[in-house]
Amino acid sequence: MSQSYKIQEHRHDVVVVGAGGAGLRATRGLAEEGLSTACITKVFPTRSHTVAAQGGISASLGNMGDDDWRWHMYDTVKGSDWLGDQDAIEYMCREAVPSVIELEHDGVPFSRTEEGKIYQRPFGGMTTHYGEGTAQRTCAAADRTGHAMLHALYQQALKYQAEFFIEYFALDLIMDDEGVCRGVWAWDLSEGTLHRFRAHQVILATGGYGRAYFSCTSAHTCTGDGGGMVLRAGLPLQDMEFVQFHPTGIYGAGCLITEGVRGEGGYLTNSEGERFMERYAPNAKDLASRDVVSRSMTIEIREGRGVGQDKDHIHLHLEHLGGEVIHERLPGIAETARIFSGVDVTKSPIPVLPTVHYNMGGIPANYKGEVLTLKDGDPDAVVPGLMAIGEAACVSVHGANRLGSNSLLDLVVFGRAAAKHCADVVKPGATHKSLKADADDFMLNRFDHLRHAKGSTPTAGIRDRMQRTMQNYAAVFRTGDTLSEGVTKLKEVVDSFGDVGVSDRSMVWNSDLVETFELDNLLGQALVTLTSAENRKESRGAHAREDYPDRDDDEWMKHTLAWRTAATDIKLDYRPVHMDTMTDEMETVPPKKRVY
Ligand code: FUM
Repeated sequence: MSQSYKIQEHRHDVVVVGAGGAGLRATRGLAEEGLSTACITKVFPTRSHTVAAQGGISASLGNMGDDDWRWHMYDTVKGSDWLGDQDAIEYMCREAVPSVIELEHDGVPFSRTEEGKIYQRPFGGMTTHYGEGTAQRTCAAADRTGHAMLHALYQQALKYQAEFFIEYFALDLIMDDEGVCRGVWAWDLSEGTLHRFRAHQVILATGGYGRAYFSCTSAHTCTGDGGGMVLRAGLPLQDMEFVQFHPTGIYGAGCLITEGVRGEGGYLTNSEGERFMERYAPNAKDLASRDVVSRSMTIEIREGRGVGQDKDHIHLHLEHLGGEVIHERLPGIAETARIFSGVDVTKSPIPVLPTVHYNMGGIPANYKGEVLTLKDGDPDAVVPGLMAIGEAACVSVHGANRLGSNSLLDLVVFGRAAAKHCADVVKPGATHKSLKADADDFMLNRFDHLRHAKGSTPTAGIRDRMQRTMQNYAAVFRTGDTLSEGVTKLKEVVDSFGDVGVSDRSMVWNSDLVETFELDNLLGQALVTLTSAENRKESRGAHAREDYPDRDDDEWMKHTLAWRTAATDIKLDYRPVHMDTMTDEMETVPPKKRVY
């Protein structure tokens, strides 16, 4: 090692990594339970990517018509294309109602109906009476719901005296020889110091890895840092082949245009001015689930009916909604469309394209937030001391395709559940077990190695090649040939990381080095994604194989688990989907053909 480093130690009952919706909801709950709680975050909490969530959070409140959590569960299982674990989905849909009421009490300024109830809008795939009608289930704070939630949850966490470590970048998990997680190492970006956070439970709430792709709705910070740490700890990731393309990213810019636009009556057209979704999803039309709409748009473009000079995108219309609805319900969209596509939405359609938006896969976890691993063949074995929630985790409530507005829900339901679980298993102030004398060596060697990396390839160049490879080879439609070519190309990119060059060696505000650590996290997850996709020989949800166009429940109704055993080596195994429900208040939703 070229330099010796001093490490500052912190001791807490629980450490949460990430301050988006899931991390903040967990932090708030933990602090309220009287546990000493640290929340480490690489950006200021209210700048976390949850801030970009627009359309709303689902819960069967029934404020705008009949609703029932069982209908919500049915829709979610169907939306997941029967890859979601039904016990966890039951838990999420049932707990949605109290979780949203808690948010209201925490101060989220939801939009209101005339009677003063929380306003709810329709969203894709959300129905009443088990697929019969259209549900208005998505609770909205105009089109800035995530923003509103972050502010309320951060204020609550501060009220309960959680301790925040802001602009700290989490480097690696502290795992002991028995496979127990004992804490996490982090780098204070502003002071330039290294920190050892000891905890009885570490909760990873680090979000998704959308930035593995060239065009995505995700913030530049969405680099899957938790998933990267988990892979380096020798633990698996789950269902990483399922990457959601949101139908309406702004063409060229990638910014999200909420599904709430279609919920409020917006619709898509092709170059012939046709509302083509009527052909692909005769009932739900523009409000079919996202995988269905994204595939339909891609087919329209492929068949020459795209709009624009290069016929390579689609039009989203909201001109007919009128200024009043747009001003009241969709003000952010009007602004985003004006800035990023130069469009006045009251006069012209927005140019849109399916854009990477969400990772259904992630760190395998159960509904309490405990991280799962396949130990001694036990598919429900947990990793002591380690938990994961939010988009970083795969519970799996979204299975092969997530329904819009079930993401904000997942964040708060499982953030809340994780806090409750810690309150059950952690004794406040319990002593921390001593670590081995060389416990810090792995992190220090890696940190020092990358800080002094003198190769000839800049981080940005490797990242660009990774992002273009993912964009081209792990797209809306896939084939065995394109996937295997993608794996080969991506392995070359991963190999080139051995020649990475970092130009700035300082410890303070070194964005080159932060981006290098982030790239390391992304590369592992990108390779797992392509490898898992290559091996899954069926089409299910967001994984659409042209060479295997049908869902194959006999062979493939199972979760992929993937370990990174060496830089370019991925090992795969599988675990069964939980088909049983948690209680007898709802029966298993049996698999059937998925039509909208
Ligand atoms: O379209 C949207 O507003 C996004 C919501 C979501 O991904 O859940």
